[in-house]
Amino acid sequence: MTGVLNTLTSLDWRSANGALVVAATAATGIYVANRLLTPEDKEAEKFQKLNKLPSPSGALPIVGHLFSVGKSPHIKFSEWGRTLGPIYSVKMGSSRTWVIHNSSEVIREMLDRRGATYSDRISTDILEAFSANGIMYGFAQNNSYLRVWRKHTNNTISKSKLEKEYSQVLIAHSKQLLLNLLEKGNVPEGINPSDKVYLYNVNSMCSVIFNKSFTMDDPDFKEIVRLGVSTLNVAGDFTLELFPFLAPFLRSKIRRAGLLQLQIKQVFGKYVEEVRQARKDGNEVKCACNEYLKAQETDNENGHMDDVASLDTSSIALLNGISILANYLNVQERAFAEIKDNIGLDRLPRDTDEERLPYTRAILTEILRFRPPLWLGVPHSNIKDEEYEGYHIPYIYPDPYMFKPERHLDEDAGNVRQHYAFGAGRRICPGSFLAEKSLFSVIAHIVQAFRIEPPLDAQGNPLEVPLSDITLTEPSIPIFKVRFVPRHDNIKSMCKDD
Ligand code: HEM
Repeated sequence: MTGVLNTLTSLDWRSANGALVVAATAATGIYVANRLLTPEDKEAEKFQKLNKLPSPSGALPIVGHLFSVGKSPHIKFSEWGRTLGPIYSVKMGSSRTWVIHNSSEVIREMLDRRGATYSDRISTDILEAFSANGIMYGFAQNNSYLRVWRKHTNNTISKSKLEKEYSQVLIAHSKQLLLNLLEKGNVPEGINPSDKVYLYNVNSMCSVIFNKSFTMDDPDFKEIVRLGVSTLNVAGDFTLELFPFLAPFLRSKIRRAGLLQLQIKQVFGKYVEEVRQARKDGNEVKCACNEYLKAQETDNENGHMDDVASLDTSSIALLNGISILANYLNVQERAFAEIKDNIGLDRLPRDTDEERLPYTRAILTEILRFRPPLWLGVPHSNIKDEEYEGYHIPYIYPDPYMFKPERHLDEDAGNVRQHYAFGAGRRICPGSFLAEKSLFSVIAHIVQAFRIEPPLDAQGNPLEVPLSDITLTEPSIPIFKVRFVPRHDNIKSMCKDD
């Protein structure tokens, strides 16, 4: 393989039935880095004869379309999609071409149906160092190792397994979150809930995966949060993707990415060893890691369970949700009424109550559409050139920039993908069930217990609660303050241990 004619793919979040597309306020882009065949390649000639993908005018030397894309790429990608169609290319930086996939049909065709080709990952020197040359799961190449790994992960945190084994674990940590918010969350100036939200997510994920939980002061908790935030920064660092020639000047950044990988292994490796030892001692602990180790023994595979990024994506999703709800008090009222009518105020909703709470469920779907934590997804790369023809321009989804949970209540909504926050195709997020179950129940609990309101200034006037921006830079942790105003007196009693 020689040069990289790269391609990035993103979607316009506005197709007919709620399927996706970059723009709308919520855009999940899905990258495909498309390698050019070498001249020696037998098929090269065939591909050279094909039409080039449409591309917007105005690419400049070295930076390509970067300046035109600007600070809010999802809006620009959507705008171009309206004139160029559901698949087109843009030049991003010095050598990369991104193929923008701007309709759910194109995504389904390319990433789902042609998954065998479109499930590799791109690599930059930073990602190589961070993933220990592609060994770390999320950056692994699409080979048999990855397939075994995904099989084990999918089995250990499947929807049915989570419902059978871990519902109570998620509720227990959510109760702790509610009590923390009850104790500290209702001050006029508001609070920034991020430390409490992180504690909830780290505890619920680590309990399910390693049977481990922490207090806020625990050094391990602080280290995990630090690792998560650093991982997000590394994984979302676009510098070398856009300008690979800068690698020699970014040696220290590349070294830091390698070091981060070692630190992740150190912390999570310790937990894996504890679970392994307990197995040996005949004291098996109930957790996904134990199941995983059991499966490895029969399959002879030695992958790792160390996806620290999921702690951030889940925390960002919940923080986004809280800041959005503070801006949409009417949405909170409707969800509260639904919960009160169908569950009451004597117990907390469970993840298995989803069917009885369709509007509350739609809030989660809309949060993931409106502000996907990884709006560009994780880059996919295709392993060979591909041909794609016969596309059409999709119908535009109404009000893409509005937060409207009710859009997901349409009869047809269940039949189509409502967002691409978890990616697509063979690399789709294996933690999506865990993330959705945890987020659904914790959002339902918060809405049942509190009105999330804007903070007040010294004169008692409500202040703005900013929503997170979608920009080309790495996903960031939303920073805002809100008040958690208790709705009733049952919160403490509902949070008592059963
Ligand atoms: C709201 C929370 C989450 C979001 C938005 C999210 C999003 C994503 C996205 C967009 C991808 C890339 C998919 C693709 O390449 O098409 C991904 C991959 C991945 N996610 Fe998640 N995720 C979340 C939570 C989790 C959780 C809770 C776990 C595990 C416990 C997890 C584990 C993984 C792993 C291991 C991969 C790599 C899969 C691969 O490369 O084959 N994620 N996630």
